[in-house]
Amino acid sequence: MAEIVVGISGASGIVLGHRTIQVLTALGHRVHLILSRAALFTAQEEMGSDFATPERFVSALLPEQRDRLTLHKIGDFSASIASGCYPVDGMAIIPCSMGTLAAVAMGLSDNLLRRAADVTLKERRRLVIVPRETPLSEIHLDNMLRLTRMGGIIVPPMPAWYTKPRSLRDVEDFVVGRVLDLLGIDAKLYPRWGVEELPHSNYV
Ligand SMILES: Cc1cc2nc3c(=O)[nH]c(=O)nc-3n(C[C@H](O)[C@H](O)[C@H](O)COP(=O)(O)O)c2cc1C
Repeated sequence: MAEIVVGISGASGIVLGHRTIQVLTALGHRVHLILSRAALFTAQEEMGSDFATPERFVSALLPEQRDRLTLHKIGDFSASIASGCYPVDGMAIIPCSMGTLAAVAMGLSDNLLRRAADVTLKERRRLVIVPRETPLSEIHLDNMLRLTRMGGIIVPPMPAWYTKPRSLRDVEDFVVGRVLDLLGIDAKLYPRWGVEELPHSNYV
């Protein structure tokens, strides 16, 4: 079983991070979750509830996943995942705000999410970044290029229309499925081109 760090920052698309955790834990993997303060605010806007604390987010949206989930405080630099000695299999930042993108690109480890990403890069582990902004400025593109050159993998949440999505969930599962592919986990969340057609939505 894999042990994956999931960072959720304050960009739009909190549902993508939430779905990533749902699928990972349903498949029996362990998740270390870090939510930025802005993520809680964006989650409130997008997922329709008051998430004053990360604990509230987890108890409201991930109650059944709790035993496979380690929730870290954003300011806790003494957490296991703040050190490269602690073995994890990779990290996804999903969604990734332009602020977090810039901080990680510059090595600004001023919260646990950013520190965990910095550790992932220095240990040459998989770092999958799902940036969410549109349109993109030169600064955003420059930071993505920097991170790509350092070994990070940039996965913009772009749908593939050839999979014929029938719902927003199908679109989300395509993005989450591609992220998990890059972390070495085949969750069978979307129909693969050239492979027997798989049904949408009902996998995990
Ligand atoms: C509803 C909402 C949606 C947002 N969407 C985005 C977004 O898609 N991309 C982005 O870079 N920032 C977005 N922001 C702004 C970030 O939350 C803000 O820049 C914050 O400082 C990011 O902090 P963090 O990187 O520590 O999470 C959004 C804010 C709100 C309230």
